[in-house]
Amino acid sequence: MFHPQGPSFVELMRQALASTEHGYDLIAPKFDYTPFRTPAPVVTALAQVIGGPGSVGAALDVCCGTGAALRQLRPLCRDRVVGVDFSRGMLDEARRQLADAPGGAPVELVRGDALDLPFAAEFDVVTCVGALGHVQPGDEDRFIAGIARALRPGGRFVFATTRAPAPTEPWFWMAHGFNAVMRVRNALLKPQFIMYYLTFMWPDIRETLVRAGFEVTAERDLFAKPYQRAILVRARKPRG
Ligand SMILES: C[S@@+](CC[C@H](N)C(=O)[O-])C[C@H]1O[C@@H](n2cnc3c(N)ncnc32)[C@H](O)[C@@H]1O
Repeated sequence: MFHPQGPSFVELMRQALASTEHGYDLIAPKFDYTPFRTPAPVVTALAQVIGGPGSVGAALDVCCGTGAALRQLRPLCRDRVVGVDFSRGMLDEARRQLADAPGGAPVELVRGDALDLPFAAEFDVVTCVGALGHVQPGDEDRFIAGIARALRPGGRFVFATTRAPAPTEPWFWMAHGFNAVMRVRNALLKPQFIMYYLTFMWPDIRETLVRAGFEVTAERDLFAKPYQRAILVRARKPRG
């Protein structure tokens, strides 16, 4: 699971005992050697669904980390591609890595909170990959409202999720076990490290998006093995 150049077990424990923001600062230089960076086949498939080269005016990637999605989004954009993340360390890595990213659109990296996005009607596309577990169920409405605000009318919020696993699947028990440990950790230790599995599950998240005014469609069978469980969700902000 872990790469020899990735963080050691001790470094991962240090991350988990820090705040979410500082935890990512700590592992930023080694983050791309962890399984937590969204794999290239997933972001490539997501970008292909969004459109061809130059087909998008401006795009925003929320919780951009070291830039996995920004690298794929840049060639699609004509005007600008923006990444927002609250970890300075992750943004520094993204800046370094995106220096040679294909495409000509200016890249902007903004330090900010995904729950308090500082944008208004500026983007045609918003993505969030590999980071929805950092949004607690109680914060979903606020997170989605910020994305709705950031999008222009007709703009799309595009992300990948899955259906909740059944109790017969090992992943059900692993994910619930991890979440239970994190709940205990966060009840006992401050600052909290917010990271839970089984968030934004399809079809439950559809209702939350519709409540925020989005028109929602989902597609499966877009992702190759071993990501075939992933479901691509497109939430469009109505025009007018
Ligand atoms: C698992 S990493 C994923 C990074 C990248 N999207 C990828 O797929 O490789 C999660 C990222 O979300 C960021 N993050 C978590 N909670 C956040 C919040 N409330 N506001 C902004 N960034 C946040 C972390 O700093 C980290 O860079």
